[in-house]
Amino acid sequence: MNVLDVNGLTVRAADGRALVSEVSFSVAAGGRLGLIGESGSGKSLTALAVMGLLPPGMTAAGSVVLEAPGLPRTEVIGAAERRLVELRGRAAAVIFQEPLTALDPLMRVGRQIAEPLRRRQGLRGAALRGAVGEALDQVRLPERAARAYPHEISGGQRQRVAVAMALACEPALLIADEPTTALDVTVQSEVLALLDTLVAERGMALLFVSHDLAVVAGTTDRIVVLKDGEAVESGSVEGIVNSPRHPYTRNLVTSARHLEDALERTIR
Ligand SMILES: Nc1ncnc2c1ncn2[C@@H]1O[C@H](COP(=O)(O)OP(=O)(O)OP(=O)(O)O)[C@@H](O)[C@H]1O
Ligand SMILES: [Mg+2]
Repeated sequence: MNVLDVNGLTVRAADGRALVSEVSFSVAAGGRLGLIGESGSGKSLTALAVMGLLPPGMTAAGSVVLEAPGLPRTEVIGAAERRLVELRGRAAAVIFQEPLTALDPLMRVGRQIAEPLRRRQGLRGAALRGAVGEALDQVRLPERAARAYPHEISGGQRQRVAVAMALACEPALLIADEPTTALDVTVQSEVLALLDTLVAERGMALLFVSHDLAVVAGTTDRIVVLKDGEAVESGSVEGIVNSPRHPYTRNLVTSARHLEDALERTIR
């Protein structure tokens, strides 16, 4: 079963310009797909289109089908907002580059994590408090973090909170859009390792968006390469890294700084 099937996805700006053109890929249940490309290549718009969260004025054409256990198979493009609300968080959840975009600055961390649990799982009172504690524990944050406001914790901790919120409803597919780009290098690898473990433990599928081939190669099994809104190449991580066909991909491979590390992790 595929949790996500994207077929001929085209995203247009309000003026009709195609920002993403005829992109197709799928993610199998428990599979891990990397979406890679330079800045402006359409990675985030593709991720947003999957969630039905394109900015106002933009339109999507083609097909985006989400399917998750216990939920009806749904065509996202053209779906009513109330259907999408049901899917978000459960069929697919997203983690953004800048954790602050996902967090409410005026609300304590614990309440923010509690919100999806309350709404989607109907938890209340002690059960809800217990679930929040567990959610924090999963992302290796102490229980007292629940009482902090987002500005009182570090960037790495904020991203852990965003991960906890995304995982709260056990989505079949986790979409991570440059989840560690805003963090410094050591924190980056900690958050990546955490994501990797949590996704593996839950048998979740992962759509991982990054401009960094080394990071993608170490995190996913298959890669789609976007350039100017088009998928120019796709295949297994080994295939892409060892024998890239498109000149753009070849360029990416040669310039990937930490490629040696990534290859080691891939071959592991
Ligand atoms: N709200 C918007 N209105 C108009 N154009 C937009 C908007 N958001 C993105 N674009 C354009 O769409 C194209 C793709 O943007 P997108 O954000 O998907 O790129 P990206 O691959 O995620 O880049 P980055 O690596 O910088 O995050 C870019 O040319 C961008 O300028
Ligand atoms: Mg982006």
